[in-house]
Amino acid sequence: MCGIVGYIGKREAQNILIAGIRRLEYRGYDSAGIALVDNGVNVIKSQGKVAKLEEKLVQNGNLTGFLGIAHTRWATHGAPNDINAHPQTSQNGKITVVHNGIIENYLTLKNSLHGYQCQSDTDTEIVANLLEHNYKDNMLTAIAETCKTLKGSYALGILCSDTPDILYAAKKESPLLVAVGEGENFIASDMAAVLEHTNSYYLLDESEIAILTKDSVKFYDFEQNELQKNLLYADWDIAAAEKGGYPHFMLKEIMEQPKAIKETMNPRIINNDINLDGIEIQADKIHIVACGSAAYAGLIGKAVIEKLARIPVEVHLASEFRYNDPILSPNNLCIAISQSGETADTLAALRYAKKCGIKTLAIVNVIGSAIARESDNVLPIWAGPEIAVATTKAYSAQIITMYLLALKLAKTTLPTEKFQSLLGEMQTIPEKVQSVLDQQDIIQKYAKEYAKRTSIFLIGRGVDFAAVTEGSLKLKEISYIHSEAYAAGELKHGTISLVEDGTLVIAAATTPHILEKTLSNLQEVLARGANSLIITTEALSNEVKFSANIIKIPNIHYLFTASLTTVVMQLFAYYVAFELNCEIDMPRNLAKSVTVE
Ligand code: AGP
Repeated sequence: MCGIVGYIGKREAQNILIAGIRRLEYRGYDSAGIALVDNGVNVIKSQGKVAKLEEKLVQNGNLTGFLGIAHTRWATHGAPNDINAHPQTSQNGKITVVHNGIIENYLTLKNSLHGYQCQSDTDTEIVANLLEHNYKDNMLTAIAETCKTLKGSYALGILCSDTPDILYAAKKESPLLVAVGEGENFIASDMAAVLEHTNSYYLLDESEIAILTKDSVKFYDFEQNELQKNLLYADWDIAAAEKGGYPHFMLKEIMEQPKAIKETMNPRIINNDINLDGIEIQADKIHIVACGSAAYAGLIGKAVIEKLARIPVEVHLASEFRYNDPILSPNNLCIAISQSGETADTLAALRYAKKCGIKTLAIVNVIGSAIARESDNVLPIWAGPEIAVATTKAYSAQIITMYLLALKLAKTTLPTEKFQSLLGEMQTIPEKVQSVLDQQDIIQKYAKEYAKRTSIFLIGRGVDFAAVTEGSLKLKEISYIHSEAYAAGELKHGTISLVEDGTLVIAAATTPHILEKTLSNLQEVLARGANSLIITTEALSNEVKFSANIIKIPNIHYLFTASLTTVVMQLFAYYVAFELNCEIDMPRNLAKSVTVE
């Protein structure tokens, strides 16, 4: 997802902007650029990383000025190259724009702009030309008129050469905030970019415009009505957004999981009962819409909610949901799970569910996100900022929220002692996750041993199968090794033909009543030359009567084991990728939040 930073103030802007986009690198990008206002608008941009842009700045001479915008681009329209990098400038040089999002009607708009020739393949250049076309002598009017013609998603940072002391911003669907300092103000895609300067910020809401000078910030809707907004305070410090001494954000965030789980769970357990922030959940069926790891958290939710509350749960890949004509009824509940709260597929699925008239609940890690704002209710996870592209602590916080939801829904049907026993077990998860983390050296040893494998299967049954879907994604995402999660009993129906000498099969086997079946599936692959690594509980490890590498997790009710097996698989994937010298925090081709459909 693209990153935007803008500055207007009393200090030279270049280094502030460069440091800002460096703090947004984690979002994933393939080109970068900067524009400063000093005797006109001067733009330098480059394909590749911010370091490449800095080289260009040195070669071409640093830019001067107290007002500017900068951008990291994750290509959507047009290949990653110098021309398509942002900022984009209008044909007559009046307007300069950085943009995060997709303008869905950009071709229609392009054809409507007579007399304008585009230099790039981007939808953003069309926005710059449209702004110039609509600009007479008032930028607020030009921006408002332009935004009303745009379809799709955008966060815009805008400069106008006629107003060298004003920074403009506009937002629809893509995240953008306005941060306020002393005699200086900022725009940014998220607080990590400006946290070293200020903790105070405003969130731009849907269809809003901001106009910043060095001493003022004003907000307007697209009808040019001035708006009053609440000033917010980010209680993160830079350390929270930095690596904290770990080699990668991902390892830091893996290690933060006991805290993330505790902070998500504890506020919801009051007097031995569950209170989901006062939200009453009623549903005769639950539809979970999500992508990637969030969807796999939904699979855990399905297993646990159906087992405990006997309410049917259907997990839909958000990108499929609205095209599959889902069967929805008035008393259904749609739950959108999303770490970023900005995933376009999930937002679109949520909107579809709302259009069909069913209640919606968002489980997100970013409070002011689009998915949160558009849901009827929000049940935040409190995982803190998650920087690594591969999610870990947010996923763990999502599944603990699934447990909370399952127990809340089961409260009236479960026998009291069963409810209290499960509630008690759930509260032991943070300390048990910690004891899994304390085994990282053993896990690293196995990761080193298997790092060169080219094909790795992860198998399990029931909750274990739901858990290995996420484990397999972690491995693929950061080590680039082909991996597949498979229902243990399904392997023999075809895929076992792929098993040969040296194939690694990792089995999550933590469910007592189906352990024997999973172990016999494992023996089927061992007989065909595979190597195996079993993840099971202390108690069940004694049931493994054949020689195999075993990683033991603390004993816990099998419905909660995913919180522990996941951590084993996260560490395994991390150390395999570490062994292979992969770019762990920013894996190739990936972005932290996919804001395009
Ligand atoms: C997970 O490691 C991936 N980064 C990806 O699958 C991610 O979970 C998915 O894109 C959904 O993102 P969201 O939770 O922000 O909606």
